[in-house]
Amino acid sequence: MSETLTDTALSARISDEIARRRTFAIISHPDAGKTTLTERILRAGGAIQMAGNVRAKGERRRTRSDWMGIERDRGISVVTSVMTFEYGGCIFNLLDTPGHEDFSEDTYRTLTAVDCAVMVIDAAKGIEARTRKLFEICRLRDIPIVTFINKMDREAQDSFALLDEIGSGLALDTSPATWPIGRAAKFAGTYDLRTREVRPHETLSQSDERMTTLAEELELVEAALPPFDRESFDAGHLTPVFFGSAMKEIGVIDLLDALVAYGPAPRSQPSESRVVAADEPDMTALVFKIQANMDPNHRDRMAFARICSGRLTRGMRLRHGRTGKQFALHTPQFFFARDRQLAEEAFAGDVVGIPNHGTLRIGDTLTETEDLRFTGVPHFAPEILRRVRLDDAMKAKKLRQALVELAEEGVVQLFRPQDGLPPIVGVVGTLQLDVLQSRLKGEYGVAIGFESTPYTLARWVTGDKAKLETFSMVNRSAMADDIDGDPVFLASSAFMMRRMAEQNPDLAFHDIKQIG
Ligand code: G4P
Repeated sequence: MSETLTDTALSARISDEIARRRTFAIISHPDAGKTTLTERILRAGGAIQMAGNVRAKGERRRTRSDWMGIERDRGISVVTSVMTFEYGGCIFNLLDTPGHEDFSEDTYRTLTAVDCAVMVIDAAKGIEARTRKLFEICRLRDIPIVTFINKMDREAQDSFALLDEIGSGLALDTSPATWPIGRAAKFAGTYDLRTREVRPHETLSQSDERMTTLAEELELVEAALPPFDRESFDAGHLTPVFFGSAMKEIGVIDLLDALVAYGPAPRSQPSESRVVAADEPDMTALVFKIQANMDPNHRDRMAFARICSGRLTRGMRLRHGRTGKQFALHTPQFFFARDRQLAEEAFAGDVVGIPNHGTLRIGDTLTETEDLRFTGVPHFAPEILRRVRLDDAMKAKKLRQALVELAEEGVVQLFRPQDGLPPIVGVVGTLQLDVLQSRLKGEYGVAIGFESTPYTLARWVTGDKAKLETFSMVNRSAMADDIDGDPVFLASSAFMMRRMAEQNPDLAFHDIKQIG
């Protein structure tokens, strides 16, 4: 009897904890202000002492991700990380996505681990290419979007025109949650359309010209634009819009308060066999990111897992979905702006880092006992294929191991030609090749170069076992195995690929591989 009571108490606690989880990412075009907004958000959440700690002025980032020289040198964010902080009674997990489009696969996987995205738009530029792409990824999963129109302290497009652009350009209904008071140098704060509160950044009298303009605009807003609708937001059809200036810290609190009020709590997660609800008592988690050598002094390898349901406790035994093996979870970790901490317990929505030596891979499912595999974490067929040329033949073994580790991390895809020739790496963007080269040198002491290949396309091949074997034999010089040992056909052109598909109607050629 007492056990039942404990169970009830536990499940009530799990529900409470889950209800206050907010797991989100910020999506934007480079330069729209993602870094600045992240700093301000973390500061509001008390995660960092002073704005500017994420990236000090005059210097590019000084985040934990500093470990990677190439990132610093190029001033781009290459790695995905998570930052946890508390605000307004909620636990926020902010997942950082790489800004550069060459890392789109990494970004895609990160977006499979969030419940909501904040779309940052530059008020002068409107919707830009990368914002649109990232938005489309969110739309595939119906992820609710909150819009932050940034840089209102500069010359901006007309606010109604910006809302129109979102509405028609992205086929997304907009519902302004706040309205800007003043523009450009005279941008003075925001008016909350729901509470009718003014959050001025400077003292304004009712007779101030900006307040008069505001009153006129509000009439139009209220007549022309739909009120916030929770259901449409949850379904990803309508976005509440906030105006602000990350730099001047205007509108940031509006945004955070909104995420507390209606930022969605953890959503359910599809698996091969069933949909797993976040408030189920048994713990389930999905590995969406692997990061090796975060600390160059300790060759560590961190798997980032999003908890999809229940409660994780340190020391619990987990079942590894891909192998069916059990292991004890000794050192799950939380990440904050600048440091990490052992996670004694965590709930659905949270992201924990699990140190491991290569057992965990992207797409892996972890459960307490159930045999379950989450779906939706994809590998995309690479668009650029290069053969790796090793400068020092003595390092062949080291290179093999390093390539496997970096491929498991998702830095590149690795294809081992069945004819025994040197490995081929596949990437979506060339910057990934630079990262591979620099990390092989810096972390493994292996110098490599790249050689072109006759291939421009890679496709995973599935089908009847005997037919696949015959196909592999006939096309041996164009066949390779990926990191999981799955067969891949490398084609020199789209024409060649089509011909192969026509000649082999019993086989299927895929440009996306679901992993897990
Ligand atoms: P990103 O991560 O999306 O690439 O953008 P980031 O925050 O780095 O911002 C890009 C530039 O825009 C930075 O200027 C930043 O200071 C500026 N910025 C961000 N938010 C605002 C805002 O609300 N108003 C104005 N006026 N500017 C903003 P920078 O000159 O490239 O860098 P810095 O020298 O200021 O660090």
